Amino acid sequence: MKTHIITYGCQMNEYDTHLVRSELASLGAEFVESWREADFVLVNTCAVRGKPVEKVRSLLGELRKEKEKRSLMVGMMGCLAQLEEGQQLARKFEVDVLLGPGAITEIGKALEAKSRFWDLSFREELTHHLPPAPEGALSAYVTIIRGCNHHCTYCIVPTTRGPEVSRHPNLILREVEQLKASGVLEVTLLGQNVNSYGKDQPGFPSFAELLRLVAQVGIPRIKFTTSHPVNFTDDVIAAMAETPEVCRYIHLPVQSGSNRVLRRMGREYRREWYLDRIRAIREAMPDAVLSTDIIVGFPGETEEDFQETLSLYDEVRYDSAYMFIYSPRPGTPSYKHFQDLPREVKVERLQRLIEKQKEWSYRQNQRWVGQTVEVLVRGAAKDESFAEGHTRGNHPTLVPATQAPRPGLYQVRVQQATPHMLLGEVVGAQAPATIPLLMA
Ligand code: 5AD
Ligand code: SF4
Repeated sequence: MKTHIITYGCQMNEYDTHLVRSELASLGAEFVESWREADFVLVNTCAVRGKPVEKVRSLLGELRKEKEKRSLMVGMMGCLAQLEEGQQLARKFEVDVLLGPGAITEIGKALEAKSRFWDLSFREELTHHLPPAPEGALSAYVTIIRGCNHHCTYCIVPTTRGPEVSRHPNLILREVEQLKASGVLEVTLLGQNVNSYGKDQPGFPSFAELLRLVAQVGIPRIKFTTSHPVNFTDDVIAAMAETPEVCRYIHLPVQSGSNRVLRRMGREYRREWYLDRIRAIREAMPDAVLSTDIIVGFPGETEEDFQETLSLYDEVRYDSAYMFIYSPRPGTPSYKHFQDLPREVKVERLQRLIEKQKEWSYRQNQRWVGQTVEVLVRGAAKDESFAEGHTRGNHPTLVPATQAPRPGLYQVRVQQATPHMLLGEVVGAQAPATIPLLMA
């Protein structure tokens, strides 16, 4: 069957798409470049904010029109599929296959079914599933824990992905070994809250222990995302500092710098706790690269609260940040209880925050000029006279294409930095796996 998969949302969704794709490939699916050529179009959806939901709505509308013209099967998976909001869309646009985030292993059964196939249960098999290594990839994701036990008042994820379920460490290690054998040089361990790894299953290692175990497999770069500040404990920091394979890149969502807002968000920590975690990270790893998620315009956020977010940014000096305007999600406590701020207020604050982010990213990136960094080159950049890649700290990096003819690890001396990227020259290929991130 000619198949096309469209993926919205986070890295967990990308991993799930890979899982479903490999399952479909084993059933003989042929993948085509455009949905217009496909007999089966599968949409992997995101529900975390309103925008991705709107994108899915308009895509499903187009697919519904296409169904009137020819025989076409439409499937929907991911977070939106789990919600009443998504199921309403699925009914309206005549979606044939609907799989919640806990039921994607049912894709084969869904295709065999003669009629509509909807499954929203949470299957245990999912955590046992071992997808084959993606062909030719140098970077790969490995899900280590699914779901989230936190209850941030703005977030729909605990509803869509359910409570935390850790994957068996042996499975994770087998998957990482397979990735190593297939030539992967960088593995990102995934979960909504990776630091909670193992807590739900007696006898499982902690996240810090898992990091050390995964590093022993011998892949030169180990990364992980996402972390919750409450669970970012000293043992994780020590494991990072003592394990050279683990990249010193930390994505630690703060969401707001104001204690009043953090309390209303149900974030379970205060500004002081967060800043103490940053202090502990910097003490153990002065070269750590830090990024964050911030929501602006949470209901009730005053100018004073927002100023606290800006001042926290100055204190932490983030290398980069993902910034979002608060989006009220039906089914979340903040949607039910709080009044949304006017859009102009939210947009104006976002603009000010983006300015702050650009300023700091520029200053932080400048620190690398003159230093030698390890770059994982993926291939040609848009401008083909350059090859593109990224550092251990996730900085997008360009080097002259002639200096990096093949994908792989290179040592690069940084010559220039912008707020968004580094530019440099190759000074050596295949840097040792454990090259430190540089700088003291
Ligand atoms: N509105 C805006 N941003 C949100 N996020 C999660 N829920 C919402 C929402 N309702 C952001 C958070 C989270 C990231 C993945 O998405 O910052 O860390
Ligand atoms: Fe959502 Fe909070 Fe869980 Fe992250 S930690 S997935 S923001 S509930």
